Amino acid sequence: MSTDLYQGMSDFYNAFIQRNRDYRAIAIELLQLFGDKQDILDVGIGTGLLVEQLLLLQPELQITGIDTSTSLLAQAKASLGTQVDLYCQDVCNLQLDKMFDIAYSRGGAWAFVDDGDTILLASHILELDAIQQSFARVAAHLRDGGRLMIISSNANHSKQDEFDGEVSFGRTVNKHWVDGEQYLVLDYMCHRQGVLTGRQKVRMRLLELEYVESMLRAAGFRLIPYDSTECRIYQKESAK
Ligand SMILES: C[S@@+](CC[C@H](N)C(=O)[O-])C[C@H]1O[C@@H](n2cnc3c(N)ncnc32)[C@H](O)[C@@H]1O
Repeated sequence: MSTDLYQGMSDFYNAFIQRNRDYRAIAIELLQLFGDKQDILDVGIGTGLLVEQLLLLQPELQITGIDTSTSLLAQAKASLGTQVDLYCQDVCNLQLDKMFDIAYSRGGAWAFVDDGDTILLASHILELDAIQQSFARVAAHLRDGGRLMIISSNANHSKQDEFDGEVSFGRTVNKHWVDGEQYLVLDYMCHRQGVLTGRQKVRMRLLELEYVESMLRAAGFRLIPYDSTECRIYQKESAK
């Protein structure tokens, strides 16, 4: 998979997302988790909104961002310039000539979502083999003891149209089953003066937490206790 899943909303991505997420607060929490670690991989960096906040708070971080969306990456390049190494790569085939202390996904390739009485993984990668491979490719790019942080998202909830002058944004979310597999379909829309000017549908696979954690264990990760629902942290086991 290497298509641009977000092209249809690239013109209004920042305007929509920034009103729904406090990137500065996420950056502050992440920096506490990074500690003194410097080499960071953002899996699905998008337009770079979170990285921008991280670098404002801690300019010496060495951040690499990957994404499959050329339209969002172009915006990341425009706002972050040479402060960050950017690559158009699918995490399933991640191949970089460097190693990292931390990899994280903030609504990128994967996110955890609260489904009422349970936590699910929402994954832009749809096939199980490919998800397993994505975890393995991240593990291959982490130093021993390196950590993978998967941040929680509210992407499983619809957002009613929110007005900003003449422009309105909305997201409708539907959950459905196909052949025993559970999916989310997110339908993002932007209207200007009542006329639809941008639309993107994104499909995500939903997986039970227990199942995902067995996949992560198979890729060499173990869960690290962390007393917050904002993020789940997995540590790469040292090679024996
Ligand atoms: C909802 S956006 C989040 C972007 C950014 N992390 C943020 O917080 O604004 C999801 C991003 O993940 C990227 N993505 C999805 N699947 C991916 C994959 N397999 N490899 C790399 N990036 C991926 C999408 O292209 C998109 O830019």
